[in-house]
Amino acid sequence: MTTRQLFVTTALPYANAPFHIGHMMEYIQADIWVRFQRMQGHTVHFVGADDAHGAPIMIAAEKAGKTPQAFVAEIAAGRKQYLDGFHIAFDHWHSTDAPENHALAKDVYLALRRNGLIFTREIEQFFDPVKGMFLPDRYIKGECPRCGAKDQYGDSCEVCGAVYAPTELKNPYSTLTGATPVLKSSEHHFFQLSSQRCIDFLQAWTTTPGRLQPEVLNKIREWFAPEGSEAEGTRLADWDISRDAPYFGIQIPDAPGKYFYVWLDAPIGYLAALKAHCDKAGVDFDRLLDPDGPTEQVHFIGKDITYFHTLFWPAMLHFSGRKTPDHIFVHGFITVSGEKMSKSRGTGISPLKYLELGLDPEWLRYYLAAKLNGRVEDIDFNPDDFVARVNADLVGKYINIASRAAGFIAKRFDGRLSGDLGVEGRTLLDHLRAGRDGIVQAYEDREYGRALREVMLLADRVNEFVDRHKPWELAKHAEQSAVLHDVCSTCIEAFRLLTVYLKPVLPALAAKVEAFLQVPPLRLDDLDRDLGAHTIGRYQHLLQRVDEKRLDALLAPAEAAPIELPPPGGEAIAETIGLDDFAKLDLRIARIVSAERVEGSTKLLKLMLDVGEAQPRQVFSGIQSAYAPEDLVGRLTVMVANLATRKMKFGLSQGMVLAASHGDEKAHPGLYLLEPHEGATPGLRVR
Ligand code: 2FM
Ligand code: ZN
Repeated sequence: MTTRQLFVTTALPYANAPFHIGHMMEYIQADIWVRFQRMQGHTVHFVGADDAHGAPIMIAAEKAGKTPQAFVAEIAAGRKQYLDGFHIAFDHWHSTDAPENHALAKDVYLALRRNGLIFTREIEQFFDPVKGMFLPDRYIKGECPRCGAKDQYGDSCEVCGAVYAPTELKNPYSTLTGATPVLKSSEHHFFQLSSQRCIDFLQAWTTTPGRLQPEVLNKIREWFAPEGSEAEGTRLADWDISRDAPYFGIQIPDAPGKYFYVWLDAPIGYLAALKAHCDKAGVDFDRLLDPDGPTEQVHFIGKDITYFHTLFWPAMLHFSGRKTPDHIFVHGFITVSGEKMSKSRGTGISPLKYLELGLDPEWLRYYLAAKLNGRVEDIDFNPDDFVARVNADLVGKYINIASRAAGFIAKRFDGRLSGDLGVEGRTLLDHLRAGRDGIVQAYEDREYGRALREVMLLADRVNEFVDRHKPWELAKHAEQSAVLHDVCSTCIEAFRLLTVYLKPVLPALAAKVEAFLQVPPLRLDDLDRDLGAHTIGRYQHLLQRVDEKRLDALLAPAEAAPIELPPPGGEAIAETIGLDDFAKLDLRIARIVSAERVEGSTKLLKLMLDVGEAQPRQVFSGIQSAYAPEDLVGRLTVMVANLATRKMKFGLSQGMVLAASHGDEKAHPGLYLLEPHEGATPGLRVR
C-alpha cells in the first residue's frame, strides 16, 4: 500500500460565537476520518482556524467596546476546551487575521490580476449616512415591497416569502442607527467567474469522478444552468470580492480604502493554517502543495457553503497557479429532537454544558458516528436513541466482552493469555478479521454508521461465543481450566480486534484499552497479528453507561437569564421607611422671591423663598448649572422647611429646595426643580 499524503480541513468558524453542536459534529466527522487515515500509516496534516474578518465581527466588536483583534482573540482563546474536550486532534489552529493569511491572500489576488481575471466596476449600494458605511443587506430593514409587512430584512420577507433587492424595500432603515440609507456608488473589485476560461475549468473540475458527491454535483448543474435559462451557455455571475472601509479585513493591494470581502480570504485561511503548521513542524509548505505533487487536499464543510467551496475556491486556486482541492466532503445539518437549530437560541445541546455535566465525550462521538453517512443528509440527535445506542451497543455489546473475560485471565492465569485459542477461537477471530475490508471502505467513504453496524454485528458473534461457552460455568470445574483459558483469551483477542475498528471513533477509550492490554498504540495492521501468550494488565473500568439524569439536565431548557435593567434614575431605590419617617419631613410650597449668583461659587444660587411666613428664607441651592437666576424669580417650588439651618461659607441656609437628577450626573447631566400644579400657594404643606 502506498502512503497517502493528506491535507485536511474543516470549515473555518466565524470568530463571533462559541462552538455549537453543529460545529462539533463537523469536527468529529473529520477527526474520525483523519484518525482512520493515520491508523493506516498515512500522513495527515489536519488544520483549522477562526474566520476572523467581515462586517458582522467588526460590528459585534464595536458593540462589545473592543477592537476586532481583541474580540476575535477572546473567542479564539475559548476554542481549546471544546477541541480537547471532544478529542479533536487538529495539528494546528490558526486565524485568518494572521500574517500568513494577509500575505497569501495578496499573493492569490495578484496572481489572479496578472491572469486578467480581476476587473473593477462602479456599483450603487445602500450607505448609512450616520454610521458612514455601506450596509451589508442584513443590516437593512424596511417594509416588504409586496405585502407591506414592517421590519423585513433586505433580501426577503418572512411574512409573505417575497425575495427582492434591499433597494426595493419601502421606508428602508439601517438597523445599526435607524437612519434612512442613501444610495451611493463606489468602485468594487470583481473576480470574473463568468469568463469562458473559468466556466470551462469548473465544468471539468466539478465533474472529475470522486471529487464531489453526486447530490452536490446535481446542485452545481443547477447553478451552471438555472431553471428557465437557455440550455446552452452558463450563468455563473462575476464575484464581488471587495468591500469599502470601514471593514475588518485584508487591504487590497494598490486600492486604498478597499478590503477583500471576507469570503475571499476565509478559504485562503486553510492555506495559512497549513503554512503555520508546516513552519512549526519543519515541513516544506510549497512542496506539500505542489499542483503536480501527491498531496490530496480535502475539505469537510456544511451544505450551506457549497457554492463557495465548489466554484469560487477551486477557480481562485487554479487561476492563481495553485493546487486545487481533491475532495469536498459536504455534510447536512444536525437537528435536536427534530428541531432545527436556531442560531440565536442555539439548540438544546451546548457542547460545553455537555462536558461540564460530566457526560462522556466519546458517547457523543459514538452516537454521531452511528448516525453519519457519506451523503448530504441532515441528522437528528434523539435522546432516547442516544441512550439506547451507547448503553445497548457500545457498553452492552462491546465493553462487556472485556469485562466478562478479564477477571478470569487475571485471577486464574496470572494475566497471561493462552496463546493457543483452539479451533473455535481461531475461527471466530478469522471472522472478525474478514470484516476488515468492508469496515475500512465504510470509514473511507465516511459511512461511519455502516462501519459501526458491521462492528456491532461482529461483537454479536463474540457474545454468542461467550454465551455458548459460559466461562462462569467452566470456571467451576478444575479440569476445564485449559478450555476456560482459551475461551477467555479468545475474548480478549476479539476485544482487541474490535478496538482497532472502533479506535477512530473512540480514541480515549482505545488508549485505555491499550494500557489494559499492555500493547503499543493500535494501528490497522494490528489486525494481522495475534497477541500470543502475552500478559495483559489489570482490567480497569473502561466506559460508563449513560446517566440519564445528566442527559436530562443537558436537554433542560436553559433558564431564561434574568433581564438586567439599570436601576431607575441611575440608583437603587433607598431603604423602606414608615409613614412616621416621612411625616418628619415638612415640605412646603415656596415662591422664589429673588435669585442671584453667589460670588466665589460656580454651583450655588442664593434664593429668597416665601413660604407664607413673615420673613422670606434664605437658601443656597446647587442649581447654577441648570438655571439662570432671572428665570426663576416668581416661580413656585417645593422646599424642606424643617431642615436645620446650616452655616455655609456664604451665609446661613434655612432649608432646601427639591430638584430631580440622575444617579450618574456625569453621564446624565440635568437638574429639574419641582414645581406644583397651578393654584398652589406659598406655605401649603406637601404630604
Ligand atoms: O459559514 C461559515 O461559518 C464560514 N465562516 C465558513 C468559512 S469556511 C472557509 F472558507 F474558511
Ligand atoms: Zn411580504
